[in-house]
Order: sequence, then structure tokens, then C-alpha cells
Amino acid sequence: MHKPLVFATNNPHKLSEVRDILGASRPVLSLSDIGCHDDIPETADTLEGNALLKARWVSERFDCDCFADDTGLEVAALDGRPGVLSARYAMANGEGEGHDAAANSALLLRQLEGVTDRRARFRTAIVLIKDGREYQVDGVINGSITTAPHGTDGFGYDPIFMPEGHTQTFAEMSAHEKNTISHRRRATDALLQLLEKI
Ligand code: IMP
Repeated sequence: MHKPLVFATNNPHKLSEVRDILGASRPVLSLSDIGCHDDIPETADTLEGNALLKARWVSERFDCDCFADDTGLEVAALDGRPGVLSARYAMANGEGEGHDAAANSALLLRQLEGVTDRRARFRTAIVLIKDGREYQVDGVINGSITTAPHGTDGFGYDPIFMPEGHTQTFAEMSAHEKNTISHRRRATDALLQLLEKI
């Protein structure tokens, strides 16, 4: 049995996905499991930067091994935006409030009106701090932005993201199918490979 790792999240879906992939021999604790109720700042301008801020915050204050993630949708024709602003893209552009997924997607579709290069990718960055050392991995899924939303499952930009080699958006796929190919899945697989190496 390995030492417990803290995952800097309280999102139950992320926790169960990570626990499934890392397996029972690598126990994963959530922020509430360790009594961390802080509003951890995510003020960096890159995904890696935000993951690092979160992982450092937890490992320094709670004296534990920890990993943290940050995800963004990177659109080629928009020089990688929304990227680190994905959760609050509309708000960052003076539209809507907070994490409004419908407003974010609507803004993106408007910005891409008439644009033929619709390539995009989801990227998840993970920073691990273990025994005081910092490591980074990431996971990517390439695809394209559709011209209108399709499907009702999932969250965020799922209705307008079609992964390469598929004819359905993430929001039209089953959760199982999406989770088998997703950016988060690939980043977590990379984390497991890293943990097996160090
Ligand atoms: P987080 O770092 O996992 O909180 O993701 C930041 C933002 O990226 C979310 O608020 C969503 O807008 C977007 N996002 C992340 N993962 C996905 C996904 O799997 N599908 C659709 N949108 C996502």
C-alpha cells in the first residue's frame, strides 16, 4: 500500500475517476478529507501555473503529498483561448456571470462564425508534489468546434466539442465513452505512469 495522495479537489466525479485509474493500492484523499476548506487562488495565466498554485497551497499547509489539475479548451484560431479562462470565458469578456457554460459556448461560437479552421483541443495539466519534489504531466484530446451545440449530456463545452475521429460531440457520447478518451483520462493515465516511475 502506498502513502495517501491528496487530490486538490472536492469534485466527486473527478475523485471517483482518479480513484478508478490509480487503483486501490494508491489511496486518494479529497480536500474535505483533510479538512481543507480554503478558497485556493487560481490566479496564474497558464494551466500548469494554476495546478502548481493549488498543489503547493495544499502540500505546504497540510504537509502532504498532493496533486492538482487544471483544464482548458484551446482553440487554434483563437491563439489557444479560452485556455486558462475556460470556466469564466464569457465573464472575462464582459458577458454573463460566474461559470456560465451556455454563455461561454455561445461566445465561442460567435467568435468562430465564418472561421473555417475549427481545430481545438482539451488539455488537462496535473502537477504532483511528492516528497517535496514537483512534477508535471498533461493529457490532450484533439478535435474541433462544431458550428452549433449538439447533445445534452456532459458539462461545459461538451456540446460544441467533437473529438477527432468521431462523429458525435462529447455531449452526445455516453459518459463511459467520453471518459475513455478524455483529456482528464489521458492526464490521469500519465500521472499513474509517473507514480510508477518515481
Ligand atoms: P477544471 O479545471 O476541470 O475546473 O475545468 C475548467 C473549465 O474547463 C470548466 O469549467 C469547463 O468550462 C471546461 N472543461 C473542463 N473539462 C471539460 C470537459 O470535459 N468538457 C467540457 N468542458 C470542460
